[in-house]
Amino acid sequence: MHNAAFAALGLNWCYVACEVDPKNLRAAIAGAKAMGFCGLNLTVPHKLLAVDMVDALDISAKTWGAVNTIHFTEQGAIGYNTDADAIITSLREDVAIQVRGAKVLLLGAGGAGRTAALKLASEGVAELSLINRTQSKADEIAAEIQRQFPSVKVSAAYPKGEVDLILNATSLGLKAGDASPLDEKQFSFKQSRAVYDMIYRPAETSLLAAARAAGCKTANGLGMLLYQGAKAFEIWTGQRAPLPVMRQALEKNIYGTAKS
Ligand code: ATR
Repeated sequence: MHNAAFAALGLNWCYVACEVDPKNLRAAIAGAKAMGFCGLNLTVPHKLLAVDMVDALDISAKTWGAVNTIHFTEQGAIGYNTDADAIITSLREDVAIQVRGAKVLLLGAGGAGRTAALKLASEGVAELSLINRTQSKADEIAAEIQRQFPSVKVSAAYPKGEVDLILNATSLGLKAGDASPLDEKQFSFKQSRAVYDMIYRPAETSLLAAARAAGCKTANGLGMLLYQGAKAFEIWTGQRAPLPVMRQALEKNIYGTAKS
């Protein structure tokens, strides 16, 4: 998506993927800087490690304790996190959910689930219900939200009434034959307006297929991938990201064909 965006804006830039052993991360960051790279993206497991390897942290990286974007500037290597904002942007753009005042059932309390829960709370979600296979992790996040965001009605159980959104942040659905992350005996698709699955491959998980059949508005996690990349693009280039070009490039690369 970045190379397509560079081409669209006539920038003679190039985005390359390099596999780096975590033990070499500090040297890789210094090497990229020495070679005149403009910046870097990092993914698992480097996002947490890089926090201690940059010269300064933007507020986004401080807040989430993770760096997915580095910008090399005259002031040094600045670490950013563009993941959390991308959740909110994608929910608004892809399933028309305004998080402020919404009722959300969040499935999953791992790394992605925790970031989503705290971001939703910080954006003023009205009610947040957290479900996780390991109950203690959902309980811990609920307690943290109660402390930090007392106005959010948070619980680590299925909601009683209706919600605006079911958000899947578990890894269930990545593999064919995975169980559903939603216990339909406890909560039905009919009780939600929209269902968002952070998984984007396959394009339609069985969760999304069932939600669509029940009449819910649905979207997969491609938008999250797009918007975190678009924000990184804007940090590096100082130019507005060409979103349609980037979305098309992602769809073509991931699904082999562009939908839009
Ligand atoms: P990520 O960084 O993608 O969030 P993670 O931290 O390993 O990855 O979290 C994976 C999430 O998927 C967790 O919520 C996990 O539940 P546990 O906290 O109980 O491990 C959930 N998950 C993974 N496999 C699962 C399964 N077979 N059944 C139910 N939940 C599962």
